[in-house]
Amino acid sequence: MNRKFPEGFLWGAATSAPQSEGAQYEDGRTPSTWDKWFELEPEYFNQDQGPQETVQVYKRYQDDVKLMSAINHNSHRTSISWNRLLPDGKTVNEKAVQFYRDYFKRMKEEGIEPIVNLFHFDMPWWLMERGGWEARESADHFAHYAKVAFQQFGDIVHYWTTFNEPIVHVTCGYLADYHWPKVHDLKRAVQVAHHTCLAHAKAVIEFRTLDLDGKIGNILNLSPVYPRSERAEDLKAAKDAHAIHVKSFLDPTVHGTYPEHLVTLLREHDLLPETEAEDLEVIAQGAVDFLGVNYYQPIRVKEVPEAERHHPAQSLEDFSRHYDWPEKRMNPYRGWEIYPKGIYDIAMMIKEDYNNIPWFISENGMGVAEEERFIDASGEVQDDYRIEFIHDHLEYALQAMEEGANCFGYHLWTFIDCWSWLNGFKNRYGYYRLDLETHERTPKKSAHWIKDVIASGELPELNHERK
Ligand code: FCB
Repeated sequence: MNRKFPEGFLWGAATSAPQSEGAQYEDGRTPSTWDKWFELEPEYFNQDQGPQETVQVYKRYQDDVKLMSAINHNSHRTSISWNRLLPDGKTVNEKAVQFYRDYFKRMKEEGIEPIVNLFHFDMPWWLMERGGWEARESADHFAHYAKVAFQQFGDIVHYWTTFNEPIVHVTCGYLADYHWPKVHDLKRAVQVAHHTCLAHAKAVIEFRTLDLDGKIGNILNLSPVYPRSERAEDLKAAKDAHAIHVKSFLDPTVHGTYPEHLVTLLREHDLLPETEAEDLEVIAQGAVDFLGVNYYQPIRVKEVPEAERHHPAQSLEDFSRHYDWPEKRMNPYRGWEIYPKGIYDIAMMIKEDYNNIPWFISENGMGVAEEERFIDASGEVQDDYRIEFIHDHLEYALQAMEEGANCFGYHLWTFIDCWSWLNGFKNRYGYYRLDLETHERTPKKSAHWIKDVIASGELPELNHERK
């Protein structure tokens, strides 16, 4: 196998505004839903670690940009905080403009291409109080915010994305208790998904109207779906899960249409959202230039026996259920499956079913609980497990590229260990370790490793024993 990465391959790491900026209430920023939720119900958050306990990028970005180039990164993904840029949804916050302009400019000066995302689960609280994504008006507010961001930063930023993992605020907020507003209602979830698709398309329309020198994309978590067996019932469960978890946002994002099979499923269960006449035309204009693909682990499903199904469906458990694959390789320090070949399977699906649209790995990574146990005498985290994880995924990415996949970069989640929603700082993911007391950043072994990989432009053999 060719182990060389192409010229211009984007190397970097990803983070988001709510997980890294800090300075929550400074310089005019109003609360996001996460800030408010923590105020209302801190008991939901691991060890009482709320969104204020972050990397403090707002204050430290100048040095952080140097840390990016110290390990040879040539790109970096983060997001803009909607409620920092437009604290009331209308008025532009000049302090925010200054901050982001300077942050992105400094990246450019260091040879780092900023990839800037607009929404990373952080609905402004004022808009959540008006219904969040359940309210149709949110799509227009989002389009306005997107336009302001393009106008303010479009001369510096050339890679834009609208959403991070849009299905996550749908499933975690409207089918589970992981995001506010913690309701469990399929019909409302579908409505939220539809408004999110509209918001995405409207932002793309704004982008195209401004005719900027840049590209626009969307970041999706694309997990390959594998059935338990070749039995018709398991295959049907996998087909349904693929439509729900993968095609739901991928089809509108690339083809500008909703997937037929999903529409059929929703119709069968009386779950179609409320729409207006022009919606499908709007969504048709949301087709993007490139994709960000977040990949952590596959989805493995089995059938739901007829006797256990609800009609109409009450939850996603009525379509398919997870099953435990006996050959599973586990991340022993966090509990997610590690399956590097998944990245190859996604690549081939994009090549075959999605016009081989350009894409990059916008998140991939390994969370580790209590990572301090791997700090050696010199103070460095010996994260050989992460090196192995990155290596194995890159190997499959290279194989896919050799077979024609259009992959143009690799970003680890994350750059500096950051706050992770309800989990707080439970799982560490970064190339740099964060000391929560001093905010000191220390490169882990994986940071040195990736630095050398990038310098050589080639994937090395692993030189340590596999665990
Ligand atoms: C992804 C999110 C990111 C981070 C990682 C661990 O789903 O995009 O914000 O929390 O998981």
